[in-house]
Amino acid sequence: MANKLWEKNVTVDDGVEAYTVGRDREMDLYLAPYDVLGSMAHIRMLESINLLTADELTALTEALRDIFDTAAKGDFVIEDGVEDVHSQVELMLTRRLGDMGKKIHSGRSRNDQVLVDLKLFIRSRIEDVVDAVSRLFDTLLRQSERYKDVIIPGYTHLQVAMPSSMGLWFGAYAESLVDDMSVLRAAYEVTNRNPLGSAAGYGSSFPLNRSMTTDLLGFESMDYNVVYAQMGRGKTERIVASAIASIAATVGKLAFDACMFNSQNFGFIKLPDEFTTGSSIMPHKKNPDVFELTRAKCNKLQALPVEITLITNNLPSGYFRDLQLVKESFLPAFDTIISILDMTGRMLSNITVNTEVARDPRYKYMYSVEEVNRLAASGVPFRDAYKQVGLAIERGDFNPDYNIRHTHEGSIGNLCTDQIRARFEHVASQFDFATYHAAFNRLLGK
Ligand code: ARG
Repeated sequence: MANKLWEKNVTVDDGVEAYTVGRDREMDLYLAPYDVLGSMAHIRMLESINLLTADELTALTEALRDIFDTAAKGDFVIEDGVEDVHSQVELMLTRRLGDMGKKIHSGRSRNDQVLVDLKLFIRSRIEDVVDAVSRLFDTLLRQSERYKDVIIPGYTHLQVAMPSSMGLWFGAYAESLVDDMSVLRAAYEVTNRNPLGSAAGYGSSFPLNRSMTTDLLGFESMDYNVVYAQMGRGKTERIVASAIASIAATVGKLAFDACMFNSQNFGFIKLPDEFTTGSSIMPHKKNPDVFELTRAKCNKLQALPVEITLITNNLPSGYFRDLQLVKESFLPAFDTIISILDMTGRMLSNITVNTEVARDPRYKYMYSVEEVNRLAASGVPFRDAYKQVGLAIERGDFNPDYNIRHTHEGSIGNLCTDQIRARFEHVASQFDFATYHAAFNRLLGK
């Protein structure tokens, strides 16, 4: 039996209903606690402009707190025949409180309801992503310091080039995460603005107090223009997806390096047996499937902003049902990136590093520039020194000094770990999560 907020005297065709609802009921479960919080703020505002009485507000708030607890426990259900989370919450309220439950929708539309739900959901999930990035960042810097003296070849064109180190390798990905965090910080700022009150996308003739709901929900400010607020649907997700994609690009590159460094032909690192998988035919195989799947998952995440762009690109302003589909790939992306970050950290904490790579004669030409520089430092013009070493290599009598003396900032001998950490902490400190936690606690009476 259909149960719709909008059905009047015609019953919608079952096939049309199934097609339009699609996977939305499953997706809306992600939004349930935030939908309830959004309603709590909305009804307090309605009471302040006399669209609800104080008693109604008390009764509705109590009921919404119970629904929130159900959602927080993961027990919230969207019943058969109920279209979405918004309809389900209203249905639960009307079942419990009768007509009072039907009053809460004054001055809003499901369009701004889903907008605010998404913003609240994204804000919380960005906090989880920041935590996960921080954990991986710590692991990378710890390993960078631990293996700072382990020299490996650096490559250009996948040809042995110059000395690098495991310290540089780990530290490079740590610093890459700092820039990804800056991108995420910008995405957070875009997210942290209140769209509630834009209603269907054109505001309301009720004298809504949007500043009040902005404060109640702990937003930094609001999306002022109601038309723009609605245009934020899809745009916010695309920007946040780009930030997730940026992190994914970092980890995907790391995953490829790790697969390569773990192969017998490189042997710079070794994964513990428990972290590899076997082959059904080749008894000797210990495959780095975790890093391979990480690479593929990271690539999929990098397709996400493109997918959202394609869904939203040619829509004019105003709400369209197209936007609903963004939820299907966007909402689960947070769990994906967090599991990628945590798994990568676990793998990197458990690898064994081969400390003897640099002595392998097959890599000896990586010291050629060291030799040229040594001659140049002793007064031989660089071009002549280059030629001298080149000819020695041609003759087959190039015997390098294996001592590495790199001292400038960011080089093998001077990783600038403290500076990289300071930059990370600076960016991390710019996410203000405390304000929204305090606001949620107030709404929930905690
Ligand atoms: N499930 C819808 C969505 O995600 C909710 C908004 C429905 N609004 C509408 N005008 N049909 O977009």
